Amino acid sequence: MPSPISVPRLFVLPSAGSDDIGLLTIAERDNLPFDVKRVYWTFDVPEHKIRGHHAHHELEQLIIAVHGQIELIIETSDRQRYMFLLDHPTKAVYIPCMCWREIRFAPGATLLCLASQEYNEADYIRSYYDYVQLVETLPNGKKK
Ligand code: TYD
Repeated sequence: MPSPISVPRLFVLPSAGSDDIGLLTIAERDNLPFDVKRVYWTFDVPEHKIRGHHAHHELEQLIIAVHGQIELIIETSDRQRYMFLLDHPTKAVYIPCMCWREIRFAPGATLLCLASQEYNEADYIRSYYDYVQLVETLPNGKKK
């Protein structure tokens, strides 16, 4: 069941610790917009390589830069564009389904993704042309 949150949104996750001992950040069921079924992380991305370039029919994601900085450009099904800079490991961006995204990594950055579904290539929309065709034909009431 897709989450009722339908726009990309920045969360600041709770942390524990101090300067003396270091910090940890918590992603726990009660604080998240969906139940997490998969976790993956992306690293060693070459400079200037832009990743993403796809949308998902159903998948919802939380994206965290656990190391370094990551910029997300997100286009929603009502053709709004959002930009987020993840520059601290406590920040998480929620990406609803049916959003086109581009992801830029600063050198050395590591992206952690919490995902609402297991991997399914059939859930991807990898052509921007197809994505635009799809969102343009969504009935208004069904726009995510
Ligand atoms: P993709 O989601 O396209 O990465 P990005 O959005 O960062 O560019 O995935 C890249 C490749 O990895 C693609 O061939 C599918 C594969 N993959 C899996 O096998 N399982 C996964 O959970 C993910 C996220 C990707």
